[in-house]
Amino acid sequence: LRHILNSKQFTREDINDIIAYADQIRDYREYRTKYKKSLKGKILATLFFEPSTRTRLSFESAMYRLGGRVISTENALQSSSYMKHESLEDNLKIVSKYADIIVLRHYREDIEEAIEYSSVPVINAGSGSAEHPTQALLDIYTVKQKLDRLDNLHYCFVGDLKYGRTVRSLINLLKIFDNIKITLVSTEYFSLPENLLNDNMVQVRSLDEALEDKPNVVYMTRTQKERLDKQIYSNFVFGVEQLDKLKDNAIIMHPLPRNDEIHPDVDKDSRAVYFDQAANGLLVRASLLYLLGG
Ligand code: CP
Repeated sequence: LRHILNSKQFTREDINDIIAYADQIRDYREYRTKYKKSLKGKILATLFFEPSTRTRLSFESAMYRLGGRVISTENALQSSSYMKHESLEDNLKIVSKYADIIVLRHYREDIEEAIEYSSVPVINAGSGSAEHPTQALLDIYTVKQKLDRLDNLHYCFVGDLKYGRTVRSLINLLKIFDNIKITLVSTEYFSLPENLLNDNMVQVRSLDEALEDKPNVVYMTRTQKERLDKQIYSNFVFGVEQLDKLKDNAIIMHPLPRNDEIHPDVDKDSRAVYFDQAANGLLVRASLLYLLGG
């Protein structure tokens, strides 16, 4: 792996490696011995042109935990020379002289050519509405952890499927697994773009109708208000009444941050795994840093 640009680039072998390393890193004793100093002397640069809690902090925490150090522009739109009209290409060219790995979140969807200006690996931590590959990897890791398989699963994606990059990345990644069925639940406005539709997908307009089909994974998303120039909401809520309709061994996921699409009373149900999912981000991102920089 040179750069991590999108979720289409991964083979099943890559996924197995990433999961295996994340599992080993999860073991605290293993962490202390084999991995603790594996990135000693290395520097990670985190360049965030859009807000983040989970992605930036889990990457930074992972780097420190593997013995490396971090330099960061957490609000690059205002605190970097972007303010002086420096291009992303020049920015990456320069920062790659100061760091061994770069993690980049940007509002641009077309970062493929820009990252080639970096002389060190660049990890895409979210590019506009297009991709968020490390989220897809931690999602897959969570599914494997909770359901013990990655083939023969029925996913139900709910909410803003038009602008949500996590759904797009995960849908792209699911193509490498066998017998995946997908139900898309959205209003017409927030539908998944047509070019992403596939034979294994059905579109419905009601969450309760989708739950009748007993999916294994219900993946809720918020309205991406920051990408909208008008007041319009996706309006699907998973509440306690939906829990009764869910299979006993199904899981409810959400990339977070949550707004009001999952009622907080759902959190205590064992099928609600979104906080474990966010916690897994640390392990999966540590695994990626180890693979790219170790
Ligand atoms: N899921 C996710 O990307 O969260 P942050 O925007 O907080 O990084």
